[in-house]
Amino acid sequence: MITGIGFSVPEKILTNFDLEKIVDTTDEWIRTRTGMKERHISDESSATSDLGTEAAKKALAEAGLDAKDLDVIIFATVTPDTPFPSAACYVQKNLGAVNAAAFDISAACSGFLYGLTIADTLIKAGGYKNILVIGGETLTKITDYTDRNTCVLFGDGAGAAIVQPSDGKRGIINTLIKSDGRLTDLLIMPGGGSRIPATHDSIDQRLHYIKMEGPDVFKHAVKAMGDAAVESLKNSGITSEQLTLLIPHQANVRIMQATARRIKLPEEKVFMNVHKYGNTSAASIPIALTEAKEQGRLKKGDYCLMVSFGGGFTMGAVLFKL
Ligand code: ACO
Repeated sequence: MITGIGFSVPEKILTNFDLEKIVDTTDEWIRTRTGMKERHISDESSATSDLGTEAAKKALAEAGLDAKDLDVIIFATVTPDTPFPSAACYVQKNLGAVNAAAFDISAACSGFLYGLTIADTLIKAGGYKNILVIGGETLTKITDYTDRNTCVLFGDGAGAAIVQPSDGKRGIINTLIKSDGRLTDLLIMPGGGSRIPATHDSIDQRLHYIKMEGPDVFKHAVKAMGDAAVESLKNSGITSEQLTLLIPHQANVRIMQATARRIKLPEEKVFMNVHKYGNTSAASIPIALTEAKEQGRLKKGDYCLMVSFGGGFTMGAVLFKL
């Protein structure tokens, strides 16, 4: 069960009006097509693990846990500080979590739900008791601010959760993760890996930035998140009427509304904060979860479904009782 949560975002805010000065776009276009108004962006001095560490400290405090008690640290990110060591190892150092195994996972925007699934499975298999799962990104560092198709969408942040054995009555009820590798080209950072290592030429071609087929991603996202929600409810034996809250990956208001319609959930039961943070990829669900709880929209005994889609293509769903 999730016993502590927290999040951290950089101070600096980039508004739609700021973006109007950078590319050929308007506040009206961004708001009506995506629901976004502003997003937080990190500066040169901070990296993904810095945000992850701050979020982790808050989650540990809520769970009443010392960093030395952590058995495992899982960091979901596509923007680690360095390709290796992992962002999880930097967090381990920052926290002094000397007894933990630490590793990163790459599942783009579904990363946090993949991380929760791994944590839940390790705990249920036995032997692990205290697991820190972080979803964190500094996507603005791989965003091309000459490309209006992508640069308006992304923001930075991190969210964290402590997962511990369930008390029997509450906790994670169902986890679901799936991928479709046929869709790798829809959303990709082509440069910087072993296929296209960094060269002057790859930099000149702007291959170290996010490339996205927006409308295709939109189409697959609507289907993937809807399918994930339907399947997770079915596997859990929970009806959508029993749900207190749906927390979808915060990519676009229209994608979230379509997911709610698919499971016949009224919009007031859907948590949205994309207007404040943009798409923060693996961080979006834990940030939303923390805010939902802070705003009193989730109370003890409530059922909550979290669903995601992301580059890969990946999708995920986690249903829990608080
Ligand atoms: N400002 C103004 N016009 C724009 C902008 C912009 N910022 N961006 C694109 N356009 C234009 C395009 O050039 C195109 O113009 P054209 O028709 O003259 O060629 C037009 O707007 C595209 O319009 P639509 O196809 O109607 O746009 P759509 O409604 O599909 O919205 C959007 C585009 C917002 C990108 C949408 O497709 C979307 O949200 N897709 C999913 C993106 C997503 O969620 N990505 C993240 C995945 S998660 C992860 O793993 C990181």
